[in-house]
Amino acid sequence: MRKPFIAGNWKMNVTDEEALQFVTQVTEKLPSSDKVEYALCAQAISLKGMKEKAVGTDLQIGAQNLHEEEKGAFTGEISAAALTSIGVKLAIIGHSERREMFNDTDERVNAKVKTALNHGITPILCVGELLEDRESGSADTVVKAQLEQALAGIESARAAEVVVAYEPVWAIGTGKSSTPEDAEAMCKTIREFLFDTYGPETANAIRIQYGGSVKPENIASYMAQDNIDGALVGGASIDVDSYLALIEETV
Ligand code: G3P
Repeated sequence: MRKPFIAGNWKMNVTDEEALQFVTQVTEKLPSSDKVEYALCAQAISLKGMKEKAVGTDLQIGAQNLHEEEKGAFTGEISAAALTSIGVKLAIIGHSERREMFNDTDERVNAKVKTALNHGITPILCVGELLEDRESGSADTVVKAQLEQALAGIESARAAEVVVAYEPVWAIGTGKSSTPEDAEAMCKTIREFLFDTYGPETANAIRIQYGGSVKPENIASYMAQDNIDGALVGGASIDVDSYLALIEETV
């Protein structure tokens, strides 16, 4: 059985002070993590403070990116070693905003996934098609190509540690969520790709999140699908009550 995993992606919307307050407030009310895992992915500046505030709880703190190289002259970037040095063991990789605006090519996404795994960091690997891909009927091909390239050279045992987030780009921050049935159809396609690539054990172990305008009101309809094991949530994860409701609706 795959344990559901709800991760908030705050993007660039939460200050350090707000982030710390959020963790203080939310940790008092979080349910046990027996049935659901939960995380918050914040700006790099807040990760250390959030980790400290979350000590003794099951709240996972994640980064929104990392650099594929071990170290070096990469001004403004964040290394896997710097993340693990403060206890961060989760990172979103290949979010469509980074693919679109920050040169996260498929090759770099692949290198970043490998770097994360080498450092014991769980990658939340984002894939998803553009509206034009969906309209032209090539959504499956696009997503499978992204997966194939992102996971190239990663053997089965390590791939089992990856979390895949299916985020149709047209559904991100638009209020236009994919129907649960359409999201399930793509997540099933993803599962089949993983099955063909890695065999049943790994394919059945990998968790697949849906992301794109998920809110407390619609999360249960996604979680009811066979191949959706959680959600990667932007806007609706920024409010304490809404974040808690997302988790409660999942258990
Ligand atoms: O990574 C989460 C995301 O891109 C979805 O954002 O605001 O549509 O939930 P949102």
